[in-house]
This record gives sequence, structure tokens and C-alpha cells, in this order.
Amino acid sequence: MEILYVNSKEEGSQKGYEMIREALDNGAKVFGLATGSTPERLYEKLTESDVDFSDAISVNLDEYVGLPGTHEQSYRYFMEQKLFNQKPFKESHLPDGMNEEQAEIERYEAVLSKYPVDIQILGIGHNGHIAFNEPGTALDSHTHKVALTQSTINANKRFFEKESDVPGYAYTMGLASIMKAKKILLLAFGEDKAEAIKDLVTATEPTEDIPSTVLVNHPDVTIIVDQAAASLIK
Ligand code: F6R
Repeated sequence: MEILYVNSKEEGSQKGYEMIREALDNGAKVFGLATGSTPERLYEKLTESDVDFSDAISVNLDEYVGLPGTHEQSYRYFMEQKLFNQKPFKESHLPDGMNEEQAEIERYEAVLSKYPVDIQILGIGHNGHIAFNEPGTALDSHTHKVALTQSTINANKRFFEKESDVPGYAYTMGLASIMKAKKILLLAFGEDKAEAIKDLVTATEPTEDIPSTVLVNHPDVTIIVDQAAASLIK
């Protein structure tokens, strides 16, 4: 696990941008993408560049259950606004929040088998979640439906008019699905991520209590942290 210490979100997003570019230049075809505030600046940098994804495939980590892709808070809508409209991929895959559970799990697993991820971008939740894999998720999990924890609902309610509008469930890639990516790039910015980063980098073996620790056994993980997120490990 390599840790890159940067001064700011801006610098970290620039580094992330350079790593994505390098991967593309070196032939990466499938990009695993995340939503949330962490990669927003990185996506902005991609849209401002001359990078060309028209031959590439994107697969996203997760989507709220019950929200159609046209809903402003759906993750598909987020990706379209932040990246896809400006930089279209040949194909862009996300879980379909309107599809029935079993059908969606099978459909998305087939997508992931067809398109193994070359480089996966990840953020991290306060409780160590990656994608929507909350504490207690099996380390060998594949795509599944999850009930969001109160901590995640609290963190996400800022995007909704009221807390009761936050969907209670999501479809998410599992921890084993994420581990299949050839390369993983986890970004964390801000003091509120310091505890989660400490838990991750001090872990010696994976534990279901802290889903991010599954990454301890991955051969190619880079973590980009700003000073605030690194404040408990430096
Ligand atoms: C988003 C996702 C989540 C976020 C995490 C951090 O697709 O999978 O795990 O990466 O909740 O969210 P932000 O970046 O908003 O702090």
C-alpha cells in the first residue's frame, strides 16, 4: 500500500488526474468510478483536459435503490453532470436503482465479469466503508443490496431536502468485486476522514468491522491523503 501525502485536495486531485491519465496512456480500458465529494475535483480536471475516454468503459461502484437515473440525487445523474456529459465513455455502467434486486445483482455481476476494472477510484466513509459496503459486510461479498447505516444517511443527507428523502437502500459492488480491480486509487481529504485513514493504514489484516481494510491484501493500492486526512498517522 503506497501512501502519497499531499498538501491539499487540489494537489491530491491533480495527482489522481495524472494517475488516471497515465493509466489511459498505458492502455487501461476499464475505469472504476466513485461518486461523492471526494473525486469531484478530479473529475473536473478530467473534463478540463483533452483526455479522451471514447474508447474506454466506465463502471461505477454503487447506486441508490429506488431512484431513476434521471433523479438529481441518483449516482447516474451525478456522473453525467460531473463527467460523462463532457467526456463520454464508449459505455458507462452503474447499477440500476429501479431494477428488481436479484435481476440487478445478476446483471451487474455480468457487467463486472465482462469488464474487469483496470483502475478503481475510491473514496472512504467515516466508518471505513468503501462503495456502500458498511461495517459487517462479508469480505468475500459481490454485488448486493445494502441498508444504509445511520452514519451514512447522516453524511449523505446534505444532498437531499430532508433526511427522510435519503433512500434507505443501495446496490453496491461488494468487497470482493472491488478487490478484482488491477489497481486501486483511494482518495481522502479533510479532517473528518482522519480516523478512517488511520484505521486503514494501521490495519495488518482485513476485518469486517472496517470494510476498507480488505485493501490490505491488494497488491496495488495507492492512497492519496491531504494533511488533514493524514493528521492521525503523521
Ligand atoms: C460513492 C461511494 C462512497 C463514497 C464515500 C465518501 O460512490 O462509494 O463510498 O466514496 O461515502 O463520500 P464523500 O466522497 O462524499 O466523502
